[in-house]
Parts: sequence; C-alpha cells; structure tokens
Amino acid sequence: MKITAFNGSPRGKNGNTHVMVEEFLKGANDAGADVENVFLAEKEIKPCKGCFGCWVKTPGKCVIKDDMEGSLSKFMSSDIVVFATPLYADNVTGIMKNFIDRRIPILDPHLEKDEKGECRHPSRYEKSPKIVVISNCGFPEQNHFEVLKLLFRRIARNTHSEVIAEIYRGGGEILKEHPLIIKPFVWKYKKLLRKAGREIVETLKLTEETMSQLEKPIISKEQYINGANNRWDGLLSIKKC
Ligand SMILES: Cc1cc2nc3c(=O)[nH]c(=O)nc-3n(C[C@H](O)[C@H](O)[C@H](O)COP(=O)(O)O)c2cc1C
Repeated sequence: MKITAFNGSPRGKNGNTHVMVEEFLKGANDAGADVENVFLAEKEIKPCKGCFGCWVKTPGKCVIKDDMEGSLSKFMSSDIVVFATPLYADNVTGIMKNFIDRRIPILDPHLEKDEKGECRHPSRYEKSPKIVVISNCGFPEQNHFEVLKLLFRRIARNTHSEVIAEIYRGGGEILKEHPLIIKPFVWKYKKLLRKAGREIVETLKLTEETMSQLEKPIISKEQYINGANNRWDGLLSIKKC
C-alpha cells in the first residue's frame, strides 16, 4: 500500500502540521505501508489559469510546466493520500488550494450524474486514492475545522473518492515547540497519531476509540490560552527592547 502525504504548510518541515504527519506516517510505515512525504512549499506549483487546456488542448495534461505534473502522478499512483494543511482563515493554505485546483486534469469535462443525481465530471482514471485529512490550528477548539470537514467531503465527491479519516488538532501551536512541562502530553498525542497511522493501513479506518481520543485536548483550554498569551507577550517585549 502506497501512502503519500501532501503538506501545504508554508513552514514545511518546521511546522506543527509536519509533527502530525510524521507520526501518522511512522505508524503507517510500521504497519507495512510504503510512505512518502511531499512538502508543497518546496515545490513550484503555480495557480490554475482556468484555460481548460487540460480538458481540450492536451486532455489529461496541464499546460503549465512546473512541479505539478510530478506531484499529480505521485497523487494518482497512491492508494491513500493525506491532505495535510494548517488552518488559514478557517480554510486550507493558499499553497494547498493551488494544489487542489491543479488536480483538475484528472477529470473529463463532460457532465454526469452521481448516485444522488447531482452533477460531477467523470474521472479519467479507474481508481482514485482514498483521502485522509490532517490539520491543526492556533485556536484551541475543535469546531474551527467545520469548513475543512465540508470542503474535503465535497472534494472527495467531486473526484470519485472518499474521506476515510480526518485528524484535526485545535491548539496545535504546542506541537512543534512547547515547554518541558507539557512534553509528556504531546508525546502521548504523538503516540496516538502513530496508532492512527497503523489503523488506517490495517483497516482503512480509525476505531471509535482512536477517533474520540484524537478529539480530546492535549492540555486544558485555560493552560493553552495562558501559554499562548505569555508567549506573544514575550515576543512583543523582545521587539520593544
Ligand atoms: C495567515 C494565517 C491564518 C491563520 N488562520 C487561522 C484560523 O483561521 N484559525 C486558527 O485557529 N488558526 C489560524 N492560524 C494559525 C495556524 O493554523 C497555526 O499557527 C498552525 O499551528 C500553523 O501550522 P504549521 O506550523 O504547520 O504551519 C493562521 C495562521 C496564519 C499564518
């Protein structure tokens, strides 16, 4: 089984999203999957021009010559893809949005009805990779991911796929850098992410237990808010000196 993660954080390897993806892929790899981690920030993926050249002029192939061609071929040859993104303005990052848009060559321009009678485009491919979503955000609550939940459900429908797991982490700014005192709590969360990676390879889904554990805060909301405000105060006072 091939699993490829596409990380849309501008911080790439230095980001909080990467902490989540790395652990998830470790677990998947332990369970026997062949895993790859693609940092979109290191790629040149220009915005879609909307020319429909990939539908008419060169069917199935984008006319823009950049890193998307290689990335799309990795995407389509995977059994599972991970869309990994930090939350930006309640949505995916710009880098991730460009990547999502540039997947349009996989579709054929004609209209067809899905099983519910709603229109979509046929796929040029027999099989689409299944989708896992991984995201983190700065605010501590889990409800900030509402837009992402709907977005990826629609993306899956439009591209003949399915979302098999969603891992969202409110209060994610403590993942990469944190005081020593909360290290054990982050460690416990990382262990859970590895378990999730293993479960996906073994059963193509997460157990109810894992899903419910993943939704729990790493530290209390008050502790997170105090820590964040102290950190910002510290950074602002350094600037003033
Ligand atoms: C431009 C921008 C927009 C953001 N928008 C949100 C937001 O809407 N909600 C939120 O909770 N956090 C928001 N954040 C915070 C990021 O989601 C958070 O810093 C996250 O940990 C970044 O992950 P990364 O280190 O993988 O890039 C935003 C950050 C930036 C830079």
